[in-house]
Amino acid sequence: MIKRFIYAAFLAALWHWGIELKTVLLGGFLVLLVTYTVVPLFYHYNGWLQRHLVFLTFVNYPKGIDFDKPENEGLPGTRNFYVETEDNIRVGVWHILPASLIDTAEAAENRTEFFNNSLCDDRPVLLYLHGNTASRAVPHRVELYKLLRKMDYHVVAFDYRGYADSSKVVPTETGIVHDACVVYRYVKERVGTSPLVVWGHSLGTGVSCHAVSHMCLSGEPPTALILESPFNNIKDEIRYHPLTSIFRKMPKFEWLFLTPLSSNGIDFRSDEHIAHINTPILILHAEDDLVVPYMLGHKLYEVAKKIRPKDADLIQFKGFESKHGYAHKFIYMAPELPQIIRQFFNEAKIKIDSSN
Ligand SMILES: *[C@@H]1O[C@H](CO)[C@@H](O)[C@H](O)[C@H]1NC(C)=O
Ligand SMILES: *[C@@H]1O[C@H](CO)[C@@H](O)[C@H](O)[C@H]1NC(C)=O
Repeated sequence: MIKRFIYAAFLAALWHWGIELKTVLLGGFLVLLVTYTVVPLFYHYNGWLQRHLVFLTFVNYPKGIDFDKPENEGLPGTRNFYVETEDNIRVGVWHILPASLIDTAEAAENRTEFFNNSLCDDRPVLLYLHGNTASRAVPHRVELYKLLRKMDYHVVAFDYRGYADSSKVVPTETGIVHDACVVYRYVKERVGTSPLVVWGHSLGTGVSCHAVSHMCLSGEPPTALILESPFNNIKDEIRYHPLTSIFRKMPKFEWLFLTPLSSNGIDFRSDEHIAHINTPILILHAEDDLVVPYMLGHKLYEVAKKIRPKDADLIQFKGFESKHGYAHKFIYMAPELPQIIRQFFNEAKIKIDSSN
């Protein structure tokens, strides 16, 4: 109602400023035509555009990161290295040490060996799968690593193909899920009996569910899975994203915006993959999340309770009230987060050093 009033007032103003009524009406018609016909059709037939809008590899901030110097990003005691995930594709990885090992690492004779061998020291290891845009060095991601290292956990964070200093190829769902599985195996081979937990955020929850279902089906499940601000599948995510809100009521919305993604290999069907994830799951979601609406995370939780086997490990859902303003990427600010994580590990009977 208010919107319509604003449009009408705007058109009246143009007219008032001496632009001919005919021009105003024609202009308005053209804007509507472009918005509701040209843009959707262009999107529908353009797989390149769809992939770029989902993965957003071109949104890159902060600029000028030297990935070899994580200490410049506030992460001393961090090693940068590269893992080849398939022929000619390599991904950039950071291994962020638990806080209590930072000083010891400084004194180590061989840094590479020290980092490599520290992974099996019984402290939990968290493999972080980030959401779309930018890199492993984005401030809200770095703040989460800092919180986890302060809890004395290892964090391993990497950039999928197409992002940051990883190989410059256009990502696909299969490709980045593969990257996640290979980095997981790299860590798994080194952790011994330490807990190994996969933590996904946003689009990274889609990667996590897909990758962890592979891990579980191949008999190499992680110790637990934490999903921060997840969606149930990419179709619903796009349906409820603020950017598509003006198109949502169009009769051909599904055909225009949703079906082409699937034919383009972008599904992220977490609500199906989760059926195979027989490992404890913790879901975190803020009620004021606009990018991935709270409702979608809750939907994933409800579906998971129905479709996971009866004897599957526990699944917990933790919501955060809007009044805190954590929105899509600031759940790390919740003062009770460490307690939530510890309690989840406890209830899932995951062994963590009681001194932590
Ligand atoms: C550290 O250890 C690695 C692996 O064993 C070896 O390749 C490297 O040359 C060593 N570096 C130094 C400075 O000794
Ligand atoms: C890294 O750790 C693994 C497993 O603990 C070990 O087999 C390997 O030799 C180590 N490599 C280096 C370079 O220290």
